[in-house]
Amino acid sequence: MLNIVLFGPPGAGKGTQSERIVNKYKLVHLSTGDIFRYNIKQETDLGKLAKSYIDKGELVPDQVTIDMLNAEVEKQVNPNGFIFDGFPRTTTQADALDKHMISKGSSITMMLSLHVPEEELIKRLLLRGKESGRSDDTDENIIRNRIRVYNEQTAVAANYYEMQNKYHQIDGIGTIEDIFERLCQIIDKHSTIL
Ligand code: AP5
Ligand code: MG
Repeated sequence: MLNIVLFGPPGAGKGTQSERIVNKYKLVHLSTGDIFRYNIKQETDLGKLAKSYIDKGELVPDQVTIDMLNAEVEKQVNPNGFIFDGFPRTTTQADALDKHMISKGSSITMMLSLHVPEEELIKRLLLRGKESGRSDDTDENIIRNRIRVYNEQTAVAANYYEMQNKYHQIDGIGTIEDIFERLCQIIDKHSTIL
């Protein structure tokens, strides 16, 4: 299996690039943000809980997120692999993901981390906020809080993969196609099952 963690701050292009990667490599795309938003729309209990955090730009508690993610992994029958988008976001989540993949006789192949400066992130998210209907995109203070939470709680999760020699940083500035090319080069170089 090819299991990729696509990492980076809010607005770095995780969702945009995930779409392209899953098409090329036939992977299952699991975005915890998308799953939370689906639950919010369906007004489930999980959605109500998640909304109370997402609207402030805070992280949903680890155990709730881990249980949800594990359940999504279990739904897939014989996948080629996964792209995890927006998960893990803490070291606790990274550890839980490793354990879950090991229990399935698999492992994380690599972390690809998109690097984009803060002012560009804010520009992208405010632009998207005009149309997306995402409650956490419309207010610059909430966007800045999401980036602060990323810097303070999430960025450290990269160390978990660095220690396993699975971490790769990619310049996330440029055209969507150029960045996709950069990602593919690393995937092709570091995966053996293609
Ligand atoms: P989540 O949905 O994961 O959002 P995020 O990480 O804040 O990031 P975005 O989805 O906004 O950005 P992205 O990197 O996917 O970029 P995109 O491709 O969309 O999480 C939302 C919330 O859910 C969190 O704040 C938290 O509350 C909760 N949550 C989620 N996962 C969690 C977890 N594991 N634990 C706890 N809580 C969790 O691109 C952004 C914009 O830029 C788009 O408009 C796009 O068109 C544009 N763009 C993309 N690439 C380029 C480019 N190269 N040049 C110019 N524009 C570009
Ligand atoms: Mg996203």
